[in-house]
Amino acid sequence: MTIRAVVIGAGHYLPKRVVENAEFEGKIDTDDEWIRSRSGIERRHFVSEGETTSTMATAAALAALKDAGKTAADVDAIILATSTADLTFPSAATMVQAQLGMERGFAFDIQAVCAGFIFALANANALIASGQVKRVLIIGAETFSKIIDWTDRTTSVLFGDGAGALLLEAQEGDGTSKDRGILSTDLNSDGRLHDLLFADGGVSTGTTGYVRMQGNQVFRHAVEKLAATATTAMERAGIESSDIDWIVPHQANIRIIQGTAKKLNLPIEQVVVTVQDHGNTSAASIPLALSVGQERGQIKKGDLLVTEAIGGGLAWGAVVLRW
Ligand code: UT7
Repeated sequence: MTIRAVVIGAGHYLPKRVVENAEFEGKIDTDDEWIRSRSGIERRHFVSEGETTSTMATAAALAALKDAGKTAADVDAIILATSTADLTFPSAATMVQAQLGMERGFAFDIQAVCAGFIFALANANALIASGQVKRVLIIGAETFSKIIDWTDRTTSVLFGDGAGALLLEAQEGDGTSKDRGILSTDLNSDGRLHDLLFADGGVSTGTTGYVRMQGNQVFRHAVEKLAATATTAMERAGIESSDIDWIVPHQANIRIIQGTAKKLNLPIEQVVVTVQDHGNTSAASIPLALSVGQERGQIKKGDLLVTEAIGGGLAWGAVVLRW
């Protein structure tokens, strides 16, 4: 008998305010054609007054609980992946815990930037597999609109806000790749590459800072490292790419998504793509894609998924799971 961390609910939240590429024209030296062709992004959502990372995370969590037919009282732990917590501390996860009315259990944030949800999945899996908790809410939520330098055309057009959540539950499996739940994980980081993608603020500067990125350098690392980590995770799960139903990648750039799928020998038809509508929502992008993929009828119970992401750190990783 093997304890598996099985997805029993998924949900997401996107702010109402939608900003089309054309809205950047005239404000900075860019146009819809460049943004679309270089990144695949057509629009993104931005928060309005009163919306924060924790409020979006709570909305996504409530949607996941509803999808699972559970309430906050059924949850033992919350792990929130974010780089844009409401405050320096406490964690946004504890704010979500309060907003959900949870009076027990524990909550904490994970900060691995765009790869944050992969790290959250791996940590939730470890907590469940070791028997410490039965149900974990894992959330990816970001408010990158608050750390964008609106004068920088190389970053401002790329990011969006939003949140996605999964409810994971401990269930018994037989230890094979036929089991539902998380089958394998692979986590990596290389801090020597920290200056390729970072926010230039924090406690050392007394400011929140803005996103700074050497996009073409990150791009080069992305295709190579994402295919490698996905391959490692598939080997650990004892599966081959021909077994995969869906790739659910971090949604940063359609060209990275296409390049990685090609390296994994899977057609784009087997990739859940949301980048055109959400932009890059950092740690929120994978749970958003999972929830939207389920809502669209693409991802069904029993499907085999590989999900992968890379971001600031650089930090990257992949997870194989059966939905
Ligand atoms: O989520 C975390 C991980 N992040 C990523 O995975 C992002 C990875 N990088 C990328 O997605 C791409 O590198 C970008 C979309 C950011 C940029 O695409 P690129 O094809 O790598 O373009 P580039 O950075 O090499 O820039 C090409 C040209 C430059 O002009 P020059 O120097 O050739 O004259 C840029 O200044 O495009 C220019 N450019 C723009 N032009 C119009 C950069 N941003 C813009 C813009 N509008 N918004």
